[in-house]
Amino acid sequence: MSQTINEITRRRTFAIISHPDAGKTTLTEKLLLYGGAVRLAGTVKSRKAKQHAVSDWMELEKQRGISVTSSVLQFEYMGHKINILDTPGHQDFSEDTYRTLMAADSAVMLIDAAKGVEEQTKKLFHVCRKRGIPIFTFINKMDRHGREPLDLLDEIEKVLDIKSYPMNWPIGRGREFTGIYERATSKIELFSGTGHGSTIVPTSVGDLADPAIVDAMSEPIYNLLKEDLELLDMAGDAFDQEMVHRGELTPVFFGSALTNFGVGAFLETFIELAPQPHEKTSNIGVIQPEHPEFSGFVFKIQANMDPSHRDRIAFVRICSGIFQRGMVVKHVPTGKSIRLSQSKQFMAQDATTIDEAYPGDIIGIFDPGIFRIGDTITEKSSFAYEAIPKFQPEMFARVHLRDAMKRKQFVKGIEQLTEEGAVQKFRSPDIGLESPIIGAVGILQFEVLQYRLTHEYGVDISLDYLPFNIARWATGENLTPKSLKTVDNLVLKDDDDNFVVLFRNEWAFNWEAQRNTKVTYLEHPPIRQL
Ligand code: G4P
Repeated sequence: MSQTINEITRRRTFAIISHPDAGKTTLTEKLLLYGGAVRLAGTVKSRKAKQHAVSDWMELEKQRGISVTSSVLQFEYMGHKINILDTPGHQDFSEDTYRTLMAADSAVMLIDAAKGVEEQTKKLFHVCRKRGIPIFTFINKMDRHGREPLDLLDEIEKVLDIKSYPMNWPIGRGREFTGIYERATSKIELFSGTGHGSTIVPTSVGDLADPAIVDAMSEPIYNLLKEDLELLDMAGDAFDQEMVHRGELTPVFFGSALTNFGVGAFLETFIELAPQPHEKTSNIGVIQPEHPEFSGFVFKIQANMDPSHRDRIAFVRICSGIFQRGMVVKHVPTGKSIRLSQSKQFMAQDATTIDEAYPGDIIGIFDPGIFRIGDTITEKSSFAYEAIPKFQPEMFARVHLRDAMKRKQFVKGIEQLTEEGAVQKFRSPDIGLESPIIGAVGILQFEVLQYRLTHEYGVDISLDYLPFNIARWATGENLTPKSLKTVDNLVLKDDDDNFVVLFRNEWAFNWEAQRNTKVTYLEHPPIRQL
């Protein structure tokens, strides 16, 4: 048992959230560099999916060889086991990001020093806040001309309604950003080197009483730092670790992922302060990670990760107990027993077989087609972890198969890709799966669906976009397609046989909701009963 506790204590499982372009790919890579997982930054191929053209996105997918979108990067650092949950950058894939955040114990919020808090940052921040997970802030691109640090802190507090505490302070700004001052220790770290950032940057460490350090700073930079520090000491809240863990205060770090300035210090302090895996809510109460029975939940499914194998991987966040390869687990929603003999862990492009894993870890297990997102697996108990919220789709399209001979592959492709959660699938109550209707959050998801159906299943489709942008799950007594139909809505069913009604807009929905009081409309599917 004590070994298990030791393993839990040393784990840190977190996700990086940001608006596209803030530098998430760069920072992830630099964390791997400083964590000793890669020797030269730039060896991990670009994992960003930010370009708007689907061809670019797919090109990146191809370059990666193996897709690690929203999967996990694991490495050892200073006695700790780090799991970085990777999330796609493009906002059309934010559902993927939301699901991934369910598996994280904390989040690093990355902010571009010139742009401040952006749209996508806000959305993702609120998901973290709702989950109550600690949020650490890294203000990036300090090597470029940006906004004043105090101004940025002010914006974080006002726009996101969270208290902030600068852990370090930038020495110089823009091109003259040459170091950081660590507030807890009064330690100064000055960077030297070319700032290309492919290797760990050399530093000289000292404090303000150290003549060599002071001499290395120009007078204006030294004076600015003195002024800033006086101001910080007078204003601002005290550091409170409890508040950090409750998600009420965000520790803020300044740095530049590109030049590596501040990355090492950030990683060190973050690992110290970030929470270890903690309890998770289930339908029988909270389950502690120390609970001896193995349990976890599926937060992501990905088909065809390796095109030559046509396999499907379910990503499981371990919540309690010890995972051992070959163990037999219970798939709670169906009660079926499954032997987990193929289990993988991912490091950049490489997948390696994993024999043992602990709470906080993410494992990829071979999915024989049984898992769905949110499913709980246990050793023998029948409890279920809290459901993973589904996004409300806002765009809909009817999918037509171009070549009727390919029907079998078409059905399989649509089934598998919707089970992955890439898009949501609905059908007309009367015509079944002939021409399914797909719901998505962003247009890029449709394009990716089309691309993947062609490339992974050899199926050509056409998409017929529909003029609806609201979906509601209808519940009530004796519902029929007829009782739900109006002149301009569309009545559908989801995979669990729930009625889903599409409306053109908020107004049309409100009008119908007020008129037909026999129906209760839900924003999300009713909870699946076990
Ligand atoms: P993302 O995953 O959040 O979308 O961002 P990504 O890391 O791809 O970074 C977006 C752009 O910002 C990249 O430039 C990257 O080099 C740059 N960047 C990241 N961190 C820093 C930083 O600390 N300072 C500066 N000055 N730039 C930074 P790009 O021109 O779009 O791409 P690339 O040609 O450099 O790859």
